[in-house]
Order: sequence, then C-alpha cells, then structure tokens
Amino acid sequence: VKITLFSSKGYDETFFGRANEGGRHELRFLEARLTPDTASLAESAGAVCAFANDDVGEAVLETLAGFGIRLIALRSAGFNHVDLKAAKRLGMTVVRVPAYSPHAVAEHTVALMLALNRKIPRAVARVREGNFSLEGLLGFDLRGKTVGVVGAGKIGRVVAKILLGFECCVLAFDPQGDDELKAAGVSFVDMPELLAESQVVTLHCPLNDRTRHLIDADAVAAMREGVMLINTGRGALVDTKALIGGLKSGRIGSVGLDVYEEESDLFFEDHSGDILTDDVFARLLTFPNVIVTGHQGFFTREALTAIAETTLQNVTDVEEGRDCPNTVEAS
Ligand code: NAI
Repeated sequence: VKITLFSSKGYDETFFGRANEGGRHELRFLEARLTPDTASLAESAGAVCAFANDDVGEAVLETLAGFGIRLIALRSAGFNHVDLKAAKRLGMTVVRVPAYSPHAVAEHTVALMLALNRKIPRAVARVREGNFSLEGLLGFDLRGKTVGVVGAGKIGRVVAKILLGFECCVLAFDPQGDDELKAAGVSFVDMPELLAESQVVTLHCPLNDRTRHLIDADAVAAMREGVMLINTGRGALVDTKALIGGLKSGRIGSVGLDVYEEESDLFFEDHSGDILTDDVFARLLTFPNVIVTGHQGFFTREALTAIAETTLQNVTDVEEGRDCPNTVEAS
C-alpha cells in the first residue's frame, strides 16, 4: 500500500524503514502536520498514517475520502483527535497501535515524579554553575506516600506496579477495576476519595467527553494541600487555568506534564527562536515547581519499533481483508 505519513521526523523514517525492510509498502514521509490545508498532499496515497497531534477531523477525512483513501493508520494509542463518526459515515477504517510499550510511558511518568520531587533539573543547572548549595532542593521519600492512579489500564497498571515497588500506598480509580492489581495491593476507590487521600495524583485515562477537564477547579479544591500532579495522558484532562490557580494558591505543590491542552501548535517542533504567544503556557513555565516535557513519554527504541511494526501490520491486515484487531470505531 502507498502510505503517506504526516508529521514525520527522522526517527519515523528510521523505524518505519526498518519495519518495512521487505519493501512491502511504499512509504512517503511528509514533515507537514495533517490539517485541512495539507490533506491534499496525500492525494495519490492508499492510506494515511497520522500521529497524535495531526488533525483527523471531519474536514480532513472528507478531503481524504474524496481521493478514495479508505484507511487511516494512526501511529498512536490515543484516538481522541479522530472524528470517528465522520470516518464511519465516509466508509473509512481507522486503525491504531493500542499498546506499543506501556512501560515507556509509565517509566517516563515515574521519571517526572522523581525529577520533580528531587528537583533534578534545578540541581543539575546549579552544579554546572559551580553552585553546590542544597537550599531549595529538599524532597520527600516516596516510600509510604499515597499515590492515586487515575485510569488503571495498560499504562496506569505499570505505573501502579512500579510505585508498589517503591513501597507507596497505591490507590486507583478506574470504572473497570483489576483483580490482579487488587491482589498486588492496589486499593480501588472512587474519584473523590482518590483526590482527598493522594499526595501524588497521576493521570492515565483516555481523553473523551467524560474526562475532558477531569482536573478542573473543583478537583483542584478537592485535592490534598501540596499535592503533586502528573499528567502524561492527554493535555485536556486538565483545565490549565485551574491548574495555575492551584499552583498560585499553593494547593498544588508541584506539577509534571508531558502533555498540554494546546500542545498541537507547539510540541514536536523546535520553537526556540520564536516568541511564545500562548500566555497560559508561558505562565505555566514560570513556576519553579513545574516541569514540562514535550510529549516524549512514548519515545523509546522499544516503543518506536513496536509502533512501526504494528502500524504496518495493521495496514497489511486491512489490505488483505482480515479483521484488524486494532480497528477503532465510534462507540
Ligand atoms: P488503556 O485503554 O489501556 O487504559 C485506559 C484506562 O482508563 C482503562 O482501564 C479505562 O477503563 C480507564 N478509564 C476510562 N475512563 C476513565 C475515567 N473517567 N476515569 C478513570 N479511568 C478511566 O490506555 P493506555 O494504553 O493505558 O493509555 C492511557 C492514555 O495514555 C491514552 O489514552 C493516551 O491518551 C495516553 N498516552 C500518552 C502517551 C505519551 O507519550 N505521553 C503515549 C501513549 C498513550
């Protein structure tokens, strides 16, 4: 199949090139993000491969369907950026990579917790300048702390298990429950209890109409004084203005983000020479107790290998008329 990959980077070419070693598919790598303006670049393609910040809304899907494209192969787990109803109406199949390496994202989540708690970015910058003072670097033992995992799916459960290894008291909220995690020592509670009890809250549920702004001003008010909030799920799980309010009042003690509500115009590109026009994001970056990484949770060798292999297998499955287990449909 002729596949046009939008938002491609050098690493996509490397890992997809490797996964396509037999040359079964014809890959065309485009740097452009998929938007209504760029969708026409896929005109001759048989399938379009999109990433997490591509726009796979109705307008884009209509343009692609107009070219006869019937397959959207997402190289991400999240599919909140796809208008699945429009895809269905247009007779398009949408496939994704539901699990490439939950460990990649889970380990990055814990890295954010540790880096925030022990103030690693500040410490490294200080030492580079010959400043070996420890003032302001005081952290706490994670052992014995209560950590609330919101969404105990593939990623959340790995986070929970790592934290059990740290001897944390792990609470989880997930409508589905998980007997194996319960047996391992995780307590499933409701959301109000999780927010009221946890000293660290970490978000791993999907973004949808029910979870948008899950952490809003009310949730901030319901959390423990000085709570650490980690979000490696999707930016819009958190109302950023409410978050800033919580940081200013001190209710929120620290924040680690790998995702941001309005990240699609910023992340994955070098904007170091540009003026930052997003005042909310700019404010967020001024807090000494906030660290932000640019959606790199998935970014490990193992995950990129699995993403490329699964994406191409999905395309092959659809091409050969097999039921692809990774198809996503409007619910
Ligand atoms: P998953 O589908 O395995 O798990 C999600 C869990 O959330 C499920 O157990 C589900 O029952 C639960 N859930 C649904 N609604 C909920 C709610 N209202 N409150 C609490 N829990 C709820 O998904 P997985 O693989 O664990 O990924 C989770 C999310 O992580 C993805 O949807 C994606 O947005 C994000 N992600 C971020 C990456 C990054 O690079 N930062 C990379 C991959 C995924």
